[in-house]
Amino acid sequence: MAQILPSIFGANILRLQDEIRFLEEENTEILHVDLMDGTYVSNIAFGPNQISAMKKASKMVFDVHMMLANPERHIDAVINTGAEMISVHYESTPHVHFVLQKIKKAGRKAGVVINPGTPENVLEYLLDDIDYILIMTINPGQPGQQFIEKSLEKIRNTRKLIAGRNIQIEVDGGVNLEIAKKVQDAGADLIVVGGALFNDNPKSSYQALKSAMH
Ligand code: DX5
Ligand code: ZN
Repeated sequence: MAQILPSIFGANILRLQDEIRFLEEENTEILHVDLMDGTYVSNIAFGPNQISAMKKASKMVFDVHMMLANPERHIDAVINTGAEMISVHYESTPHVHFVLQKIKKAGRKAGVVINPGTPENVLEYLLDDIDYILIMTINPGQPGQQFIEKSLEKIRNTRKLIAGRNIQIEVDGGVNLEIAKKVQDAGADLIVVGGALFNDNPKSSYQALKSAMH
């Protein structure tokens, strides 16, 4: 059964504490938290200080999605937020293996992220060093984009690449109720949802998403 990971980037920043409380009342296990630097991606969002503050106010497992240039320069600060899961973009550094090792040495789950234009087979020599693969199903940085259908093929191919290893597949971007079912059927374990959850009726949207998972 796939899990829905709410993306806090989609929440109302002026009601952050209420949003966190709502997610905990809904028994959310993992919260997806975007970190964007305005250089690797066009947007700017949650830095390590804000993530630490949110982490202290929550019992959820934090899944920090690093979208920043030179992740090796920032990884210690991200580890210090207390996040249990940390992912780094394959394309963001020539030292992706180094960053993954730092995450693992700190006792956290390490994830590697690939953009829509990056084939899954570049991960071949990283498979023994990771706990999850995050497949971007939009181009990272901006909310409200449309899910890229070709991603379904990539999810299936990634499942083959993993070949029974203990690695989870996460997807992020443009997921709504209908697409959540499709990505689960293609082999996704962790499904990030932003805009389709934090809408006019988050409670019913979230419950519908969760009950669509089997
Ligand atoms: C986008 C972020 C996502 C974002 C997804 O770059 O990585 O986590 O919050 O938002 P939706 O689900 O609205 O596409
Ligand atoms: Zn994300």
